[in-house]
Amino acid sequence: MQELTKKLIAEAESFTANTLEQIEEFKIRFTSKKNGELTKLFNEFKNVPVDQKKEFGQQINKLKEIVNEKINTLKEALEDQNTETGKLDLSAPADSNTIGSRHPISIVRNQILDIFKRLGFVVSEGPEIEDDWHVFSALNFPDEHPARDMQDTFFLERNTDVLLRTHTSSIQIRVMENQKPPIRTINPGRVFRNEAISARAHCIFHQIEGLYIDENVSFADLKQTLLYFAQEFFGADAKIRLRPSYFPFTEPSAEVDVSCSLCGGKGCKVCKGTGWLEILGCGMVDPNVLEANGIDSKKYTGFAFGMGIERITMLKFGVNDLRLYFENDVRFLKQFKSVIQ
Ligand code: PHE
Repeated sequence: MQELTKKLIAEAESFTANTLEQIEEFKIRFTSKKNGELTKLFNEFKNVPVDQKKEFGQQINKLKEIVNEKINTLKEALEDQNTETGKLDLSAPADSNTIGSRHPISIVRNQILDIFKRLGFVVSEGPEIEDDWHVFSALNFPDEHPARDMQDTFFLERNTDVLLRTHTSSIQIRVMENQKPPIRTINPGRVFRNEAISARAHCIFHQIEGLYIDENVSFADLKQTLLYFAQEFFGADAKIRLRPSYFPFTEPSAEVDVSCSLCGGKGCKVCKGTGWLEILGCGMVDPNVLEANGIDSKKYTGFAFGMGIERITMLKFGVNDLRLYFENDVRFLKQFKSVIQ
């Protein structure tokens, strides 16, 4: 009996299998309740002399453990092998490719640029780190203008004029430096202002500004250009209205409202009952700005406009908190998958 048990232990230890069927055969041979080797040995137990019972019992238990262990490890190995060698279930549904989405700011930026490109505006960009001249002085900002203050502008070094641009008008100065009129330029970019972050304000945001300089450019040209933009972007029914305003670099200046696309101008929560939403600032380029950049203000006139992309995106997609644009939360971002631009 002892001999047989030892033989079976050796057999179980050295057993290998390439198929599930071989493992199953092994399992039946050893563990079948009816006439498996283990059952047979347990049945023999009563016939073993008393002084050998202990050792015999230990041997049977050892065999049982080895057999169970063998079955488990061989099964696992076989499963691993199956996935490795490509013995896959080809009828299983495929993993779908996860498609990313553009950031809503990029979508709206591209849509706005496309509209102005159709009017002959050429896209130019410029540096985010600027100097006082390009951001303020060349744009006719008086020395004591509050925007130059540390409270609004991020200066990068103390007592120098190295700063982060507070608006993209600085790109327009760079275009005027390098190009003679006629000029038709559209300038997207990131801008920086020292503001506390909230749902309505952020220290980093995006603007698009435009500049058109030629002979006989009039306020009517400005108005028509902006109406075209509003109708292309917000829909054919969109209306605009201009309210007098002030910017150091334009004279006269105006702020532009577009009719609220949510309520069709009737008045709702978004437009605070007015039927209008403010979307941009604009005006005729101040002759001082033209002269500061070597353009004859007797011969040439021009218009300029600037808008915040975050604000336009809020109106387009109903986003109600500026911070969402910067958090990169996929639950927010994946909502823009269907918009291709
Ligand atoms: N630069 C202005 C701003 O940042 C916008 C503007 C541009 C206004 C051009 C008028 C003309 O608010």
